[in-house]
Amino acid sequence: MINHIDHATILDKLALKPLNAGVFDGVRWLGSRQKKTLVSNNPTTWQPIAEVQCCDDEAFLQVQQHVCQAAQLWRTVPAPVRGELVRKIGNKLRQHKAELGALVSLEMGKIYQEGLGEVQEMIDMADFAVGQSRMLYGKTLHSERPLHRMYEQWHPLGVVAVITAFNFPVAVWAWNAFNALICGNAVIWRPSPKTPLCAIAVQQLCEAVMLEEKAPPVLSLLVESGTDYVERLVDDPQVDLVSFTGSSAVGRQVGQRVAARMGRSLLELSGNNALIVDHTADLDLAIPAIVFGSVGTAGQRCTSTRRLFVHHKIYEALTERLVKAYQQVKIGDPLGDGVLMGPLIDDAAKRQFDSAVSETIKAGGKLIFHGQTPDLTGSFVAPVIMASDNHWSIVQQETFGPLLHVMPFEHLKEAIEWQNAVNQGLSSALFTNDLRHAEQFLSASGSDCGIANINIGTSGAEIGGAFGGEKETGGGREAGSDAWQNYMRRQTNTINWGNDLPLAQGIDFDL
Ligand code: UN1
Repeated sequence: MINHIDHATILDKLALKPLNAGVFDGVRWLGSRQKKTLVSNNPTTWQPIAEVQCCDDEAFLQVQQHVCQAAQLWRTVPAPVRGELVRKIGNKLRQHKAELGALVSLEMGKIYQEGLGEVQEMIDMADFAVGQSRMLYGKTLHSERPLHRMYEQWHPLGVVAVITAFNFPVAVWAWNAFNALICGNAVIWRPSPKTPLCAIAVQQLCEAVMLEEKAPPVLSLLVESGTDYVERLVDDPQVDLVSFTGSSAVGRQVGQRVAARMGRSLLELSGNNALIVDHTADLDLAIPAIVFGSVGTAGQRCTSTRRLFVHHKIYEALTERLVKAYQQVKIGDPLGDGVLMGPLIDDAAKRQFDSAVSETIKAGGKLIFHGQTPDLTGSFVAPVIMASDNHWSIVQQETFGPLLHVMPFEHLKEAIEWQNAVNQGLSSALFTNDLRHAEQFLSASGSDCGIANINIGTSGAEIGGAFGGEKETGGGREAGSDAWQNYMRRQTNTINWGNDLPLAQGIDFDL
């Protein structure tokens, strides 16, 4: 068990103090005794961890100015050299993985293993981006005109604002920031006010690397308790790309406001992910995948499993085994030994969870399992499994907690239809040993989600793939594959190296 003294050691190792400046302009931390502060609370105990000085007008202008200047310089640095900065940041994260993982656990409430996993996700992303820095490929195209050459190239956008959520307080920033950096952009990070210390710790590690590398101030941070400055970023024409992770409701506003100024947005919003188990499935794989998907991170991943469709022939057997597995889940201090589920982020989240459970019961839901809420202060809830109906409005919504709705089905087609019959489209999974079922699920008339897995749960994607989803999930793709293209602008170049001026489409224009 990591006790209170160890909490102090975690903070100490990451140079966090009782009071921390929350704004970094790429060179200096901007804090003063006069600034409004924000307290970061431990969701496990509701005790304050440390305080943070928030952004004000003066600090905002300074960040904006520095970052815009940095972007002008950074775009002229060769991409593989930009990759070198990311490589060194990745190495710094390797050195501090244990304490940063513990801080994620302490401030956000996910278990230590998952805290470590989140830092590993940043390290993986750094490695990926370093390689990508030598692969910002454009195509060479064949011109229809003689003695002409056509090609396309990718240029940096400029300034990228990265707005992150509490549930992945460091990894989602890394997906965006590392791609943005190798693509030649400067980054402003606006973290969730619920997890500012994680952001400050990461930014301090990056600051040290930027200093060593004599890099321009390409990484900056802006902590605030309200939404004044995030709104200014969203509306700022100097911010070329707004990457937003959060709810569909807020993402809709962000997307509309950025579109109104013809800016670019990259949205990674709510999920309402389903896992289907057919009668051929290997339950030894399915059961742990369901438990990790629904209870892991206390159900606070955007990829968490929220709906479970089970073939009617195995419904009884599966739910029985599932209940047994849920009974094994130890709930408690996320830094404690053997604990598999920590608290929700705060009291408001706990209230929303409780009201979602009552609403499901009111709609006609039958309780299959309700765990024991531990007798601890902090925002603890117990996982709940309900027999529900897909069309109930509570089932149609994303409840950010360990609430699993289970439904039996007869034919796979029906289960796929239910799965797709929600407004969100992030992640999906089918457990099967039937090749035809697997292909049906992955076909054009199968899952409509951005992520579709066979014999793997809905959460825990690797960074190598493009991460994101369809419909109200926002359509954005981040992290691996070709997601880097979101952080660049494409230019088509045509060069005439002949002595005539032939027009495209064969147009005659004789002067
Ligand atoms: C999120 O919940 O916002 O696939 C991101 C996963 C993690 C990322 C989740 N790699 O569950």
